[in-house]
Amino acid sequence: MSDQVTLTQFIIEQQRGLPDASGTFTLLLNNIVTACKQISNRVNRGALIGVLGSAGTENVQGEVQKKLDIITHDIMVRALNWSGQVGGMASEETDDPIKVPTQYPKGKYLVLFDPLDGSSNIDINLTVGTIFSILRCREGMDPETEDFLRKGNEQVCAGFVLYGPSTMLVITTGKGVNGFTLDQDVGEFILTHRNMRIPEETDEFAINMSNQRFWEPPVQQYIDECVTGVDGVRSKNFNMRWVASLVADVYRILTRGGIFLYPADLRDPSKPGKLRLMYEANPMAFIIEQAGGVCTTGREAILDIKPQTIHQRVPLILGSKTEVERITDYYSQYDQANT
Ligand code: F6P
Ligand code: MN
Repeated sequence: MSDQVTLTQFIIEQQRGLPDASGTFTLLLNNIVTACKQISNRVNRGALIGVLGSAGTENVQGEVQKKLDIITHDIMVRALNWSGQVGGMASEETDDPIKVPTQYPKGKYLVLFDPLDGSSNIDINLTVGTIFSILRCREGMDPETEDFLRKGNEQVCAGFVLYGPSTMLVITTGKGVNGFTLDQDVGEFILTHRNMRIPEETDEFAINMSNQRFWEPPVQQYIDECVTGVDGVRSKNFNMRWVASLVADVYRILTRGGIFLYPADLRDPSKPGKLRLMYEANPMAFIIEQAGGVCTTGREAILDIKPQTIHQRVPLILGSKTEVERITDYYSQYDQANT
């Protein structure tokens, strides 16, 4: 007998003993995972099946959609809408939440997802991923947009799948973070990274330096000190990485520590940062905090934000505790000096 633990076994064992566990959540997760295996297959076959390149359309953020943005969105919706576990869905790729078709029963979970994170990397064959966030809702309800607008600390589960050299699933249900690798030969996610923990100390940062001239002073100060290295107040040298796929940058931080910043900048006050609260920041914050890291806007914990709109953007700073706390100190010192 193999001693490998499959994702299904792991989740069933985690749920066992919970007072209200009915198996619905395990079924829901299985459907999400089936969708991600299909996405992994499409991403992997790429040009062979003609799925690379632009679709020629724009999403609600005004970003040009790739063919795979649309294909992966459809895969997620079709995997979930018939199942009876889901009350409604929200996707980064559509303006409004997606309703369960009338012929199907409505379940007790809401699923929010970024079907293909980092899709600007797809045509250059770099790592991309799928991010998801699960909330509870009243069974049988037909949720309106407001029903999705809940704080990140209400999530019951968050995860992402990384389509990289290995296809990997990283997931939390609020009891730590675990990583699973897809065994392509048998089609199962196998537990390979138990109880992932982020080192508290780090000397690696991730930020898109091309935006430097637009950053607020606390970010300028923090990055300047990193770059000055042993010659400055930090007394150590820093390394920089920027994959430009949030999933890949977060995975690196989960495995070897680091700090990731996509801060607010001074260009357009209506766009505070680039990343989306509901599809990116909230699920990543749940995962990072469950792995012992910290996730903030610089001024507020991501998981405490009351969302105003479904596609809301937020500044996002996450990673190793000591570094994230250092920059939040810089923000509060700056704000105190300027009020
Ligand atoms: O989904 C948005 C995203 O692609 C993230 O995955 C990534 O972290 C970021 O945008 C990259 O931004 P930029 O294009 O500024 O490097
Ligand atoms: Mn994304």
